[in-house]
Amino acid sequence: MDRKKSILITGGAGFIGSHVVRRFVNRYPTYLVVNADKLTYAGNLENLVDVDTAENYVFERLDIQDAASVSDVFSKHNITDVIHLAAESHVDRSIQGPLEFVKTNVLGTVNLLEAARMHWKSESDHVFHHVSTDEVYGSLGPDGFFTEDTPYDPRSPYSASKAASDHFVSAYYHTFQLPVKRSNCSNNYGSHHFPEKLIPLMINNILMERELPVYGAGLNVRDWLWVEDHAAAIDTIFHDGIIGESYNVGGLNEWTNIDLVHKLCDLMDEKLGRTQGHSRALIRFVKDRAGHDQRYAIDARKIEETLGWKPSITFEEGLARTIDWYLTNPEWMKNVTSGEYLAYYDKTYR
Ligand code: NAD
Ligand code: TYD
Repeated sequence: MDRKKSILITGGAGFIGSHVVRRFVNRYPTYLVVNADKLTYAGNLENLVDVDTAENYVFERLDIQDAASVSDVFSKHNITDVIHLAAESHVDRSIQGPLEFVKTNVLGTVNLLEAARMHWKSESDHVFHHVSTDEVYGSLGPDGFFTEDTPYDPRSPYSASKAASDHFVSAYYHTFQLPVKRSNCSNNYGSHHFPEKLIPLMINNILMERELPVYGAGLNVRDWLWVEDHAAAIDTIFHDGIIGESYNVGGLNEWTNIDLVHKLCDLMDEKLGRTQGHSRALIRFVKDRAGHDQRYAIDARKIEETLGWKPSITFEEGLARTIDWYLTNPEWMKNVTSGEYLAYYDKTYR
């Protein structure tokens, strides 16, 4: 078959990456999807069992810190486009050990940019889409939203590394005319989400009847978006976004952590046939995260008005689907919480 594109999707075995890979494999049979992933603790090929035999899908185990291997993958698959998601993604781990965040998120991104610059000599269409976070903008007070023009003000080692990678992506556009696009998204939730992050951690602990650790007073605010709506936004930006521009992606869906944890407790008690209040009794207010950003909230008018993207489902629907997925996939949770998870958990919460 004549391939129209050969797309390198980095981090495709992770949470968001697996949804992006699944979407592109299923919707674009004329594209070859090359999923390149190191398979860290957060990468899991079980996330892709439904597409891994597809004729337009291939997996490459790749550490993006290794420039020579990155270049080899570009040559081997004649890569025409990149959607870059591979990263160390968890704020608490970045506080425990910032260096790996610099190596993967900064150096790894520059290795990919450099490979694209070296391999894309022709005039043909290429896209290098960097998937980033709203955390690069810092922390909001009670009012206002992040727009694409909000100055960068990263405050955690994670967000500093993502801000640095965003800046390198822009630098390659301005200096070398590399055809880049960027997106900065708010907090995602959905299936296949590793249980170090708030929502899957709470779902798992409620199921196991373990304590529910809420940082500080639980009054920090996050803006939650269903992961499949983020994957749809990436698809839209990748195909229709303007080269050199960035797009904020979010669901206008702000929750304090404590309200969200209460909601999860009540929904799960209902689904599990437990008496209301049973899971709320597991909540423990624990020591606050160092440098904890107070509030994130996205103004997504640019992507909505110029590219016609908007979230497809409500938070109620998305949370119900998410909880149902975890209830029907206990093996997935069992597998990802074996290995290093318990050591990480003890280090973080005891
Ligand atoms: P994740 O931690 O679930 O997955 C990251 C993936 O990257 C894993 O499969 C891991 O194996 C892989 N990886 C890590 N280091 C690697 C390396 N050196 N080489 C190759 N692969 C490596 O992360 P996620 O939540 O799916 O986030 C994906 C991207 O989206 C990240 O760039 C993140 O910054 C961004 N993002 C995440 C959110 C969110 O709410 N999770 C929101 C906005 C943006
Ligand atoms: P998280 O899912 O780690 O995403 P991020 O820090 O990147 O926004 O955390 C979401 C919010 O939940 C954040 O304010 C920290 C808080 N939180 C807890 O209160 N307890 C927890 O165990 C975790 C993991 C997070």
